[in-house]
Amino acid sequence: MTEFDNAAFTWDENPGRIEMAENSLNNILYFFQEEGVRGRKILDFGSGTGLIAVPLAHKGARLWCYDTSEKMMDVLNQKLKNLSEEIKIHTTTVIEEISGEVFDAAIISMALHHSEDWKETLRFLSSLLDKNGYLIIVDLETENGNFHSDNFSVHKFGFDSDEIKSMMGKLGLTPVHDSRIKTVIRERKDKSKVSGEYHIRMWVGKK
Ligand SMILES: C[S@@+](CC[C@H](N)C(=O)[O-])C[C@H]1O[C@@H](n2cnc3c(N)ncnc32)[C@H](O)[C@@H]1O
Repeated sequence: MTEFDNAAFTWDENPGRIEMAENSLNNILYFFQEEGVRGRKILDFGSGTGLIAVPLAHKGARLWCYDTSEKMMDVLNQKLKNLSEEIKIHTTTVIEEISGEVFDAAIISMALHHSEDWKETLRFLSSLLDKNGYLIIVDLETENGNFHSDNFSVHKFGFDSDEIKSMMGKLGLTPVHDSRIKTVIRERKDKSKVSGEYHIRMWVGKK
């Protein structure tokens, strides 16, 4: 059991997490405001309980959700039972199930810093994109290691725009969007942590 497994069943009860996911979702929808998401095949990598994927599917996108946490997927699958059959969401914890697919967009929201090898993860996601497909990354700007209370499964303390864009260039992606989308204030009572402001950014590369 990972910490994400332990957190899965109460994940959607945390207003801060809901707000973060809604913020990612709203910025993704804003990015697609002209082209729209209807009919697009979209991968949500590290989807968690589907806080981003389910609303996108309601707007007519065809979602594939991948997450390493079985329990997160259990929660998402439970939600799907109550949705109409027109909502298209494929869920999996088996990476091979997505590796042969081609997507119009791949989203990775607040999950890249949990990846053991972030460059390899972006390389993999980029390889799944169709021509003109979008890689959408939402994550922390470089931080001091105090954003998470325990840094469980945190492999990188955020990202600089330069390193993301440089990686996009190596992957043959054109950076088409880069903006700060949220500032989170963490008040820490634990003396081993410092309070402060943390910034969330969205980067988009086009294949
Ligand atoms: C902070 S949550 C973000 C959930 C969702 N994307 C959102 O923005 O609300 C991080 C998610 O990434 C998943 N995760 C962690 N490491 C992962 C990995 N290496 N590959 C795929 N998913 C991973 C976790 O299980 C968790 O569901």
